[in-house]
Amino acid sequence: MTKLSDGYDPGPRVAHAGAINLGTKDLEGSLRFFSDLLGMEIVLRDGGVAYLRGFQELTHHSLVLTQQDESIVNSYSFRVGRPQDVELFADELARQEIESIEVPAGTEVGRGTAVRFLLPGGGHPFELYYDIERPDAPEDLRSKLPSNSSRRRGLGVRRIDHFNIQTSRETINEAEHWVRDTLGFNRREFAYHRDGKTVLASWMSVTPQVHDLAIVANAYGKTSQLHHVAFNLENLSDVLVAADVLRDFDVKFDLGPGKHGIGQAMYLYVMDPGSGHRVEIYAGGYLIFEPDWTPIEWKREQFPDGLTWYGDPFLIKGDARSLETTDSAPLR
Ligand SMILES: [Fe+2]
Repeated sequence: MTKLSDGYDPGPRVAHAGAINLGTKDLEGSLRFFSDLLGMEIVLRDGGVAYLRGFQELTHHSLVLTQQDESIVNSYSFRVGRPQDVELFADELARQEIESIEVPAGTEVGRGTAVRFLLPGGGHPFELYYDIERPDAPEDLRSKLPSNSSRRRGLGVRRIDHFNIQTSRETINEAEHWVRDTLGFNRREFAYHRDGKTVLASWMSVTPQVHDLAIVANAYGKTSQLHHVAFNLENLSDVLVAADVLRDFDVKFDLGPGKHGIGQAMYLYVMDPGSGHRVEIYAGGYLIFEPDWTPIEWKREQFPDGLTWYGDPFLIKGDARSLETTDSAPLR
């Protein structure tokens, strides 16, 4: 007797946020920030490109810093669940007539073949990959704990956490729906504009985290925007230590430290002195294990508590606080 589950294939899926490739006009300044202060390991420096990872990341890198004239985002990378998923997603993009290109293995050192495309409705350059090397850290950095790639150093960034990207109010529904429908992200918390149907902000994940990717409407109608990339620290108090240390090094604060109601994590937004990109120092947050999670809607009157549960007031004006940052790179 055949069963419904015979030969069942759930299809391609995204496993987690993998890496971001940030353009920087000042690679040395960015390395001082991410490596000397935040404590990330420089796995490889190859001319004007540096590959970094947190101390609990065994894979090759979660951050690529590329010396270039424009401080744009070169790519947002996601790791997929199975080797064949890169090809299966490429097939799906073709089926939807979305232009994509194959990024050969090694284009980012240590990483296998990826498929690259622009997020429909967003224009952000996304890359999906599976294969990635797991190099040992140099002897003098190596941890005795096999689950750590290196000893905890600096402010103790342990891994990449999430991306927060923006697009226009006109296109955000397309982008948010596409990410859920095609990449399989789950909507966890969200808010609508006053019209009750246009997404103002959506926090989505493929992991138990509340968000691996957030999409927010840009107050100026811009597409292809990065708001911030977040890196994870172990403890809430680590964020306060980071605030103390970064303040002493004159790193520019954008907001915080404080705690979000949405997602319930501690935050501190600072600007990388080298690239000018906004980086969130992030710890805590609740996890979701229910397979039938009901997305939580935040109403306008709840926004103040949602954005800042306590800490630096996060006042919003109009539909969204100004969240303007650098543009992302086009498909190339
Ligand atoms: Fe964030």
